Amino acid sequence: MTTHASQQAARTTPATPVTPAAPAAAPGAGAPDGGKALYGGKGTRRITVRDIAAAKERGEKWPMLTAYDAMTASVFDEAGIPVMLVGDSMGNCHLGYESTVPVTMDEITILSAAVVRGTKRALIVGDLPFGAYQEGPVQALRSATRLVKEAGVGAVKLEGGERSADQIELLVRSGIPVMAHVGLTPQSVNAYGGYPVQGRGEEAAAQLLRDAKAVQDAGAFAVVLELVPAELAAEVTRSLHVPTVGIGAGAECDAQVLVWTDMAGLTGGRVPRFVKQYAQLRQTLGDAARSFADEVVGGTYPAPEHAFR
Ligand code: KIV
Repeated sequence: MTTHASQQAARTTPATPVTPAAPAAAPGAGAPDGGKALYGGKGTRRITVRDIAAAKERGEKWPMLTAYDAMTASVFDEAGIPVMLVGDSMGNCHLGYESTVPVTMDEITILSAAVVRGTKRALIVGDLPFGAYQEGPVQALRSATRLVKEAGVGAVKLEGGERSADQIELLVRSGIPVMAHVGLTPQSVNAYGGYPVQGRGEEAAAQLLRDAKAVQDAGAFAVVLELVPAELAAEVTRSLHVPTVGIGAGAECDAQVLVWTDMAGLTGGRVPRFVKQYAQLRQTLGDAARSFADEVVGGTYPAPEHAFR
């Protein structure tokens, strides 16, 4: 199984040592405002992009995870994760593709609908896959409208800075909140020839700043910064009035996102530098499957208490 695109970018860097997860704190412990906080707040209604804007004003940091199915999403919802992304990383993590490029609107729509059904509180953001918005604003509107109407997502995400500003503008004017995505944009893997860190050097850094400002000016409510040097991500974060969501972009972003299978240690292979694993699900699940198989082969499962009389 291959891993998410940006993980592969960090394969040349040493893996972060896996440290045991700290005991779970109460959701929102340390949040600046217990009542309104995105994570740990008392609210039970669905989070909206207005809540995201208010969190930036309060200086509140927030977590985002990907989700691709109703059951996992319900676990994260119960844990208080305020924003979930039905990312096209489903291509690598869920559908067995080599990259995000083959993912289709049908696949994103079906899995987004499942995540919406599995959650009550989180804002669900559906990713527009490669080929669903590059033709221009009208195609982007058609694709985004489908995700909003058929899957029930509260917002969509698309990749690209200045090059996607027209698409973002039309979606926002049409009433569809947009999360933008700059820095490394994995749908361009074939153009990059890999997954390199972005924004290194004066010219690239200036372009990244222009990209982030362009998507903000077009109306994006948040901007993902993927694989960007921490200092540059901090500068972008200071210069925007909408929140930045970092992945491999250091600690100064307003929010952090991880692919859930990375966060929980389910993804196989080398662990990239920016990922911290908070569990070892691959080991746990493998152990459970082996125990089940051993007991079936050894005749100890099912035991009498598992049988009907
Ligand atoms: O598809 C995805 O999961 C993403 C996030 C990692 C930002 O784009």
